[in-house]
Amino acid sequence: MRHNMTVTALDTNGTPEDRIDAARSRIDACLAGLVPSEAIWPRRLHQAQRHALLSPGKRFRPLLTLFLAQARGLDAAKTDAAMEIGCAVEMVHAASLILDDLPCMDDADLRRNQPTTHVAFGESTAILSATALLNRAFGIIARNAEVPAEQRAELCDLLSYSVGSTGLIAGQMADLDNTGNASVSEIERVNRLKTGALFDFAADAAAILTESSAPQRAALKDFSRQIGLAFQLLDDVKDVLQSPEISGKTSGRDAGKTTLVAKHGLSETKAMLKTYLDNAKTALTRADLTGTEDLSALIDRQFAFMRDL
Ligand code: IPE
Ligand code: IPE
Ligand code: MG
Ligand code: MG
Ligand code: MG
Repeated sequence: MRHNMTVTALDTNGTPEDRIDAARSRIDACLAGLVPSEAIWPRRLHQAQRHALLSPGKRFRPLLTLFLAQARGLDAAKTDAAMEIGCAVEMVHAASLILDDLPCMDDADLRRNQPTTHVAFGESTAILSATALLNRAFGIIARNAEVPAEQRAELCDLLSYSVGSTGLIAGQMADLDNTGNASVSEIERVNRLKTGALFDFAADAAAILTESSAPQRAALKDFSRQIGLAFQLLDDVKDVLQSPEISGKTSGRDAGKTTLVAKHGLSETKAMLKTYLDNAKTALTRADLTGTEDLSALIDRQFAFMRDL
């Protein structure tokens, strides 16, 4: 069943900030239509799904897909398709957060300024709602009539690799084993997998939807790799420096693990972050983009915290 048949290009009014906010509102509305309402049985399961998915996340992954695709010249008729595929990534992300917060993983109580899903609904409902979100994400890609069937198949295959036992799940597995002696390259590998794998998919989706050439796609992949590393590194910095009142999530969960921050301290970490971001920007120059103002503003917004370091 399609929930949204009207195809409208992304907003072009206002400042880049306004356009990012407008795209984020559209993502939120799209997400709300992609999962069953709280009135549908079993109500508790759907309440839990909506609690995890529709709480105020940054929506950075779908925004990346949208603005990368737009800068690669996305056909306006495919805007809704790009939106839904971005939302599928967000559903996988939300599922990964539900599981990441469980007592057997990071044991966190607070996420996006509200109780984590297992705290609000119990562990069994949390696990079932994560599994349901993860599962439905593939259906949302598979049914997307605006995307040629071959591309849908490729997207489903790539997403299953991104989240799977050699992608995000591998990263989470290795993260559980991290008890304090990891080397820089081991930490980077974990960060690339647990966080970067979904960023890779977000960029690949933009490349596929815009029928990008192999070199353009490789450039986008280089970009996503560096942005994924930077994103997790900044998240680790915030875990140390931000209180839950500011971050909206339980902090200090990385204590006892080797993160790059713990290993190198703040000033070296800041230099590493800068290197990742510079590399990401260089990769973008090889992706034949036009109109990168919104994409740059999105990245600047995401990494604004760096200025305070
Ligand atoms: C948190 O992701 C988990 C990481 C991979 C670091 P986000 O920082 O994107 O969390 P939300 O979606 O904005 O809540
Ligand atoms: C989470 O990394 C990565 C995934 C959820 C796949 P973290 O454990 O650092 O994320 P937060 O800090 O809980 O958001
Ligand atoms: Mg974790
Ligand atoms: Mg965590
Ligand atoms: Mg963290």
